[in-house]
Amino acid sequence: MKVLQIGLGPIGMAISRLLMRKPGWEIVAAVDTDVVKQGRDLGDVIGLESPVGLDICSEIPPLDPDDVDLAFLTTVSTFTEVLPTLHTLARGGIHVIASTEELFYPHHRYPQQTQELDTIAKQHGASILGTGINPGFVMDTLALLLTGVCQDVARIAVTRVVNAAGRRPSLQKQIGVGMSPEAFAQAVEQQRVGLVGPTDSLAFLADVLKWKMDGFKERLVPVLTHKPLQAAHGQIESGQVCGVRHLIKGISNGKEVISFDLRVYLGAEQTRDTIYIEGTPTLESTLKSPDLEDVAAAGLLVNMGPLVYQARPGLLTMIDLPLPHYQR
Ligand SMILES: NC(=O)c1ccc[n+]([C@@H]2O[C@H](COP(=O)([O-])OP(=O)(O)OC[C@H]3O[C@@H](n4cnc5c(N)ncnc54)[C@H](OP(=O)(O)O)[C@@H]3O)[C@@H](O)[C@H]2O)c1
Repeated sequence: MKVLQIGLGPIGMAISRLLMRKPGWEIVAAVDTDVVKQGRDLGDVIGLESPVGLDICSEIPPLDPDDVDLAFLTTVSTFTEVLPTLHTLARGGIHVIASTEELFYPHHRYPQQTQELDTIAKQHGASILGTGINPGFVMDTLALLLTGVCQDVARIAVTRVVNAAGRRPSLQKQIGVGMSPEAFAQAVEQQRVGLVGPTDSLAFLADVLKWKMDGFKERLVPVLTHKPLQAAHGQIESGQVCGVRHLIKGISNGKEVISFDLRVYLGAEQTRDTIYIEGTPTLESTLKSPDLEDVAAAGLLVNMGPLVYQARPGLLTMIDLPLPHYQR
């Protein structure tokens, strides 16, 4: 499978490293807007011992659909920001898997642009998927899969506890690490902090389960550290924000039917994902892994590669594809 890699931050690098050691994959071009990476050998940038003979470009090179089978787009979180790139790739007939959170389920937030992108992708035979771990897997695809054994489902609740220590600088920034409580409150008002995607997971679940929602309530609570902690950009002090608790409730017919409790902060203990489904039968499943984050995101995106390549054209969601599974 011939790959175009766009974006070489921690996720793009993890994907590239994985592809380099998997048989049957070849990176034919790599692009990044960071001038520090441009012109350097891909192997050097992703931390391999020897060069791979591929220089990182500043923009997508002219490519024939025969030159490339699939693009991994791992750049930014917002749908509108990746839209021009998606239009270019779709018009070139290139299939895409993106880690863009808002591309996981853009239908409710950007209905018109979603429809337009879907039409262009279909016209040019390109399949496009936005996925990841959160959104993309734990709070939506996996929760939905578990409902597969239920006769009735009354409520879904997901609790996710993530230790943000040692994680991507971009994630630590998103959760307000190092801010004062006052600066955090202001950033919440200006929508500059908080995790991107939980409301998209909620909309996805509601739509697939055909739950008509009255709306949702969202609340961001800062988690403050009581001791100095090491963050990606240096040390933070006692009393500063070390992460966030992001609470979301989805209401249908006046009842809470979906709730997400996401706790992402430096030093979080007992990291886990618990999916609780109230129904017939009621069931609860807990996943424990220190790596159900970026390592897993790279794994999922790559494992979805062959599935997206073989899928029908259009803008797809995880429900349109076969079950994600490990691919050798
Ligand atoms: N759904 C999930 O579970 C999940 C998991 C992990 C990551 N993500 C998301 O995936 C994205 C990538 O993650 P990351 O941590 O690797 O991000 P990152 O650290 O911000 O790195 C992104 C890289 O892409 C480059 N870039 C930005 N716009 C570009 C463009 N138009 N063309 C080419 N390169 C471009 C950036 O360059 P500059 O530095 O010059 O901007 C940077 O080098 C983020 O939005 C992240 O939130 C989602």
